[in-house]
Amino acid sequence: AAMEAETTPVRQQHLFNVQKLQQYLSSRLHLAPDASAISVLQYSSGQSNPTFFIQTPERSYVLRKKPPGPLLPGAHKVDREYAVQKALHSAAFPVPQPVLYCSDTDVIGTEFYIMEHVKGRIFRDLKLPGLSAAERSALYVAAVETLARLHSVDVASLGLAGYGKGAGYSKRQVSTWTKQYRASAHRSIPAMDELSDWLSNNLPSGDNEVTLVHGDFRIDNLIFHPTEARVLAVLDWELSTTGQPTADLAYFLMPHYCPSHLGVISTLGGVTEIEGIPPPGDLISIYCRCRGLPPSLPHQNFFIALAMFKMASIAQVPTRDPRADEGARYLQTAALLSISVFWRRAKFIVASVGCLSCLRFLSPLAYWHSLYPGFLNYLRSKGTFRKGFSQLGLPQSDKEAFRASFKECLSLFQQITEYYAKHTDGPQRWQTPPVLEELKAKARAAGLWNLFLPAVSGLSQVDYSYIAEETGRCFFAPEVFNCQAPDSGNMEVLHLYGSEEQKKQWLEPLLRGEMRSCFCMTEPDVASSDATNMQCTLQKDNGHYIINGKKWWSSGAGNSVCKIAVVMCRNKTADPNNRHGQHSMILVPMDTPGVRKIRALTVFGADDAHHGGHLEVHFDNVRVPASNILLGEGRGFEIAQGRLGPGRLHHCMRAVGLAEHALELLCQRSASRQTFGKELYHHEVVAHWIAESRIAIEQTRLLALHAAHTLDTKGNKAARKQIGMIKVAAGRMATKVVDCAIQVHGGAGVSDDFPLAQMYAYARTLRLADGPDEVHLSSIAQMELRDQLRRTAAKL
Ligand SMILES: Cc1cc2nc3c(=O)[nH]c(=O)nc-3n(C[C@H](O)[C@H](O)[C@H](O)COP(=O)(O)OP(=O)(O)OC[C@H]3O[C@@H](n4cnc5c(N)ncnc54)[C@H](O)[C@@H]3O)c2cc1C
Ligand SMILES: *[C@@H]1O[C@H](CO)[C@@H](O)[C@H](O)[C@H]1NC(C)=O
Repeated sequence: AAMEAETTPVRQQHLFNVQKLQQYLSSRLHLAPDASAISVLQYSSGQSNPTFFIQTPERSYVLRKKPPGPLLPGAHKVDREYAVQKALHSAAFPVPQPVLYCSDTDVIGTEFYIMEHVKGRIFRDLKLPGLSAAERSALYVAAVETLARLHSVDVASLGLAGYGKGAGYSKRQVSTWTKQYRASAHRSIPAMDELSDWLSNNLPSGDNEVTLVHGDFRIDNLIFHPTEARVLAVLDWELSTTGQPTADLAYFLMPHYCPSHLGVISTLGGVTEIEGIPPPGDLISIYCRCRGLPPSLPHQNFFIALAMFKMASIAQVPTRDPRADEGARYLQTAALLSISVFWRRAKFIVASVGCLSCLRFLSPLAYWHSLYPGFLNYLRSKGTFRKGFSQLGLPQSDKEAFRASFKECLSLFQQITEYYAKHTDGPQRWQTPPVLEELKAKARAAGLWNLFLPAVSGLSQVDYSYIAEETGRCFFAPEVFNCQAPDSGNMEVLHLYGSEEQKKQWLEPLLRGEMRSCFCMTEPDVASSDATNMQCTLQKDNGHYIINGKKWWSSGAGNSVCKIAVVMCRNKTADPNNRHGQHSMILVPMDTPGVRKIRALTVFGADDAHHGGHLEVHFDNVRVPASNILLGEGRGFEIAQGRLGPGRLHHCMRAVGLAEHALELLCQRSASRQTFGKELYHHEVVAHWIAESRIAIEQTRLLALHAAHTLDTKGNKAARKQIGMIKVAAGRMATKVVDCAIQVHGGAGVSDDFPLAQMYAYARTLRLADGPDEVHLSSIAQMELRDQLRRTAAKL
């Protein structure tokens, strides 16, 4: 696996006059007068500057030159390579010792320089096959330590102060690689332009750190000691300059984030499964420790995306690999770009391996799944495991890694299900299973936490929609990331409308996942789909409020750590003509005297204890401090509008994930059973169900994403109609798709042997919870008519 770099006879287009070179070198290198001719071989890997192995009777050297023919502006500056190596060598940094530089193009046709040949190991395959785990680890550590050392070199004292332009490196890189791509690509690639724009618009702030940067720091540009884990030389300084060192580190780590079937560069996709190779998080810590920095990679997403952009841009240069035809190059570029799209979306990717299993699950891209196998994959693959493989087209090594961690996630899932099965009637069912608490801790440590709240996660609603969709596949997934209803909605309310004191007391522990909450609006005695009907009363009394009334369907109230209720109340003495100004929302600690949990309602017979149940709760002369009111008296409707915007949308995206899961099960079942001489899917009606389901799912997802985009760009108010529309569409769609899946499963479909019955119950309630369809339809119609009227008015 390890080898001396491969050489071949000098290629036709690179031939030069060896005689002339020998004459030039003989005095300068003190070649013995009687020496036989020097021999010249070409390295196969001279990426952009052709590189040659020169053997004289005494020693071996390496020669690097400009390529022949017309060149891209600013590239191939071999004099710079020579200068930087000379300076670094004087500082005892591991580079091949430079011997001489020749600017005289008469000698071999272009400028060139000569350096010593370093003997050692070069690894073309970044996975370091054939080594023990310990050796792999040691080599990676040596590599990243060398990088840290490079970045610690004092540029000024080496006389390299003017070597590059210094601060503002990121910006220059974006423009350099954009120009390179435009100069060499055969046609414009929209995704590439888009990524370039994104990078320009998301430049890291304070891009002032300046060190020497290598620009192409990879394992295969290093020569390791023949037996020890030591870097003898760092090669290929063509792209070196002064600028932001983080870019070098991100570039070095990039292969960790690329699926291994990408042909452009040799990648480490799934590397964490390769024994010994340290995960990115460890490499980052080592690097930071060497440089005395806190262990993180600032602006990681930007720099990884930049690294991918750079690779994609380099991949456009037609001469780079004459064997790759244009189509192949285009495909490779597209693949790189789609990963970088992922990076843009996941603004907070964490390098910690501890939670890689959770990470995997963030991706909207199927092949990303080859990277981070893990427990949430189970949700995707319950029973669809085999099919998943053929769809992903993963290489064998990834499949095995995938399979191994699949077992792990299967066992996690089983532990959680068993917990609930064991405690169906016991009080423990209202508690969170210990294994789930462990997962929460992992997710939290990895920063995969409170993803639903833009202010905390940095995600847009569109970003989060993709995540919500994935979590919709499994009933406990949202909780792992502290994104479960109704807490997410309540946290949002507190975040938007809570006083500083309320935030401190209630929002913070909720954000930490230490307690739970419930939302009490619906009442047993009045038709609550018209919220102005709400009867529960609120009276002021000497610095306190007194609450009296009955609520039901308070989801989550049964949870053993449900500590706080957001209660919608009405002011009996308010002006009856002000229909939307009579209600207030108030915070009621669940342990306040007078708060009584009456019973857990059931949904089609199930008490939903894993969601904290849906409780009937009575409030009898419950006294809370006046400071518990949210926003102010009479402002309940205002809050309700704010609360239900994003929260509703998240439900809808989860419904899309749920429907995807149901359709997977449907397809599987229809392929595995036969009636009347053919597979179920050969019956046209089943085939049509499959097609109709696919259409409905895609329509719904797009509608939801559009609503999310409107929320992001125009705000809650402007998105109201869209959110109403998706609320109706998602519930109907999920109910219909799950219903078809049940039908295809026959009797098994309604049993607990499959998750479909549970899924159906959930999907069906979506048409009621957060307001029944009919109410939404009425307000959509109202808004539509209003919009039409406005349009007509505008025309007139
Ligand atoms: C699983 C689940 C969880 C829930 N969680 C919560 C929670 O955490 N907190 C909470 O406060 N509530 C919760 N709810 C309650 C839910 O929001 C209400 O059930 C819903 O708003 C309807 O109110 P209602 O049950 O009083 O029905 P009603 O108001 O009695 O309405 C009954 C039916 O009347 C019809 N209808 C109503 N208005 C119109 C109209 N304008 N045009 C035509 N037909 C109409 C609709 O078909 C409606 O379904 C939950 C419900 C379920 C099923
Ligand atoms: C109820 O409304 C009356 C009249 O508007 C007002 O004076 C009083 O403060 C309100 N009380 C509550 C608790 O909202």
